[in-house]
Amino acid sequence: MTIAVETVETTPFQDQKPGTSGLRKKTAAYRRPHYVETFVQAILDGVEDKPNATLVVGGDGRYLVREVVQTIIRMAAANGVGRLVVGAEGLLSTPAASGLIRKRRAAGGIVLSASHNPGGPDGDFGIKFNVSHGGPAPASVTEAIYARTKTMNAYRIVRTPDLDLGSLGEMRVGDTLVEIVDPVADYAELMAQFIDLDAIAALFARGFRMRFDAMSAITGPYAKAILEERLGAPEGTVVNGTPLPDFGGHHPDPNPVHNAELVSLMTGPDRLDFAAASDGDGDRNMIVAPGMFVTPSDSLAILAAHAHLAPGYADGVKGVARSMPTSRAADRVAEALGVEAYETPTGWKYFANLLDAGMISICGEESAGTGSFHVREKDGLWAVLLWLNILAKTGESADALVRAHWSRYGRDYYQRHDYEEVDAEAASALMEHLRARLPALPGSEAAGLRIEAADDFAYTDPVDGSVAESQGIRIYFANGGRAVFRLSGTGTAGATLRVYLERYEPADGRHDLDVADALAEVVAAARAVAEIEPRTGRAEPSVIT
Ligand code: G6P
Ligand code: ZN
Repeated sequence: MTIAVETVETTPFQDQKPGTSGLRKKTAAYRRPHYVETFVQAILDGVEDKPNATLVVGGDGRYLVREVVQTIIRMAAANGVGRLVVGAEGLLSTPAASGLIRKRRAAGGIVLSASHNPGGPDGDFGIKFNVSHGGPAPASVTEAIYARTKTMNAYRIVRTPDLDLGSLGEMRVGDTLVEIVDPVADYAELMAQFIDLDAIAALFARGFRMRFDAMSAITGPYAKAILEERLGAPEGTVVNGTPLPDFGGHHPDPNPVHNAELVSLMTGPDRLDFAAASDGDGDRNMIVAPGMFVTPSDSLAILAAHAHLAPGYADGVKGVARSMPTSRAADRVAEALGVEAYETPTGWKYFANLLDAGMISICGEESAGTGSFHVREKDGLWAVLLWLNILAKTGESADALVRAHWSRYGRDYYQRHDYEEVDAEAASALMEHLRARLPALPGSEAAGLRIEAADDFAYTDPVDGSVAESQGIRIYFANGGRAVFRLSGTGTAGATLRVYLERYEPADGRHDLDVADALAEVVAAARAVAEIEPRTGRAEPSVIT
């Protein structure tokens, strides 16, 4: 079918530089005429051999997702892309999109989400390009997209009516075959390959009580289909299970601050056995054991230690990776397993090469992301299922599992302090000042605590040799503590200074301290050395997780 392609003239944009995770901005920014189209055209221009290429398209259901899906369909058709695989109603969780890209051998995928940032007209929106391995595009690709947006003066689009995104099946738009797929089916099948679903079903049959909070975001349909329908968890196990355009006005970021209710369900005599939540686009996870929030850093270490109990990892974990600000708990497990531990910069994309090369099986970040080689994104529901698999196989309660882990490996007390929406110049000046002082820090004292070493983290990818510099400042203290400073790459207003704080208590040390008490000295030293209050005007962080 031939179809008229319109070439629309436009003026280039200078502000479409992708951050840690694609182009992410206030929703209103995408309302500017030709703004979405310019970025999409820049993505499409980079797709090779378009007539034979497949692209996966979907998003987390937030405001604008459906409209932008329709725009992508029209533009992909105008640009001669062979096939689009689109989640029904425009829905796909980020890990499900990654899985589909791999399964369909697609050239890539366009994922519409601003992850854990609030949605709606006053919230955030994002467009992310994933490449053929299923993971976020590497810097070389995002830089090329950005460069094209800065000179883009026309894009191609066809003027067709909206497609019905609700009916599964294939349809043609011009020469492009558009396939609308069930967003959950392939993902559920993938989980069945990696996780012992029968063991989890038996756990629920024994009366195991849990809650999964989908936070009115994308994981609702996935969690209901897998936990309730397939594994027999009682109806109501999944709460906030319908994706809403504004996530019901909530902040879909699963942490103990934004989901205090879930944490409170896990205390008291009537507490549940397990609670978990996922974020806007389904790649993050939060795990709560009876009486305790499990830090993402501990969760990664515990999953790595027990992954062999799940069929996908029965041959053993080959290697483990964590982002630099993540606590060193996973390194201790890798050492005990006799496998390599890698330390990467913040950002899931840095794990892709290690996963592709088979150098690691499991990886994770302090920012509530955990994943494995099953896809090339972090995967919230997968992490929950792996936890359940381990609980089912060990017969342990979740809190006993965590305590046993500490008694064997020691405990890394951990907190992240975020100073949100600080003045961008003040935040950069703070970082520059710390950088400039690095050579003088070792041997000096901050708030009475001796600094042993300090550096600016740089990473050389062991697979392709690419180098990422200035990825965060690390300061090591004499009491075994560490503070890391970096600026967020995902914020959309001002700058967010993140300070990551940790202190190690060995296996025979004290594991029952209050976290704030355990970290008090490191916190005071970090604040002093970075001159946080004098430079930002903030005596306390906006959020502590
Ligand atoms: C996204 C990425 C993560 C990364 C996080 C860091 O969620 O997918 O891989 O850890 O951003 O965010 P930040 O705001 O600290 O740059
Ligand atoms: Zn996310």
